[in-house]
Amino acid sequence: AAGKVAARGAFVLFEGADRCGKSTQAMRLVHTLEARGVEAELWRYPDRATAMGKMIDQYLRSKSEMEDGAIHLLFAANRWEKKALMERKLASGVTLVCDRYSYSGCAFTAAKGVDGLDLEWCRAPEVGLPRPDALMYLELSLEDAAKRGGFGEERYETTEMQRAVKASFEAMREDWWDVIDANREPDVIQDEVLRIALSAVEKCRAGRELKRLWQ
Ligand code: TYD
Ligand code: MG
Repeated sequence: AAGKVAARGAFVLFEGADRCGKSTQAMRLVHTLEARGVEAELWRYPDRATAMGKMIDQYLRSKSEMEDGAIHLLFAANRWEKKALMERKLASGVTLVCDRYSYSGCAFTAAKGVDGLDLEWCRAPEVGLPRPDALMYLELSLEDAAKRGGFGEERYETTEMQRAVKASFEAMREDWWDVIDANREPDVIQDEVLRIALSAVEKCRAGRELKRLWQ
């Protein structure tokens, strides 16, 4: 009808510690949504393709050193540089399925236990970024994560760090998150994931407003 604005897409986020299956579930969800006629794109943070992303990549691969506060702000800036594009995509009706976001940003930096860089400090540079419409937190015990094979070679990929990251996710957990038991068959998880994502897509089509962190 005249004057009718296109329904916006949903911002669907996967979070969790390393090897919980986020990337697999996110990729599969995009394919499933597309197959059902829901226009969807896979996003991930950090976006290592930008100039800032390249600096982050160097840091993660231990090719460079950086102050903990500085790298935290760089991760956040890497989201700010994509904010306008993210909002344009959502407004044009594209559903964004995202692998990690500000919650990883805060969980990982806070997990370092650096004096002064507590959760509150970590959140500040993320304030004002788009808030996801659905957040699926894939929960996996350290023991079950260990059964999935060795860690990678990157910074943060140690048992100690992963334990601390889980603790910060717990401390950040809000009522509206969907906590998913990640210790199940991928197909079973995908069924649950799809239900949650479709419900978010429906709500956004019906006019749900895009919120901001940390509303
Ligand atoms: P990632 O690109 O997710 O690769 P993989 O899926 O192979 O683990 O790894 C990025 C690493 O950076 C991961 O250890 C989490 C961490 N991270 C932060 O410390 N801050 C952030 O803001 C984000 C998005 C990730
Ligand atoms: Mg990793």
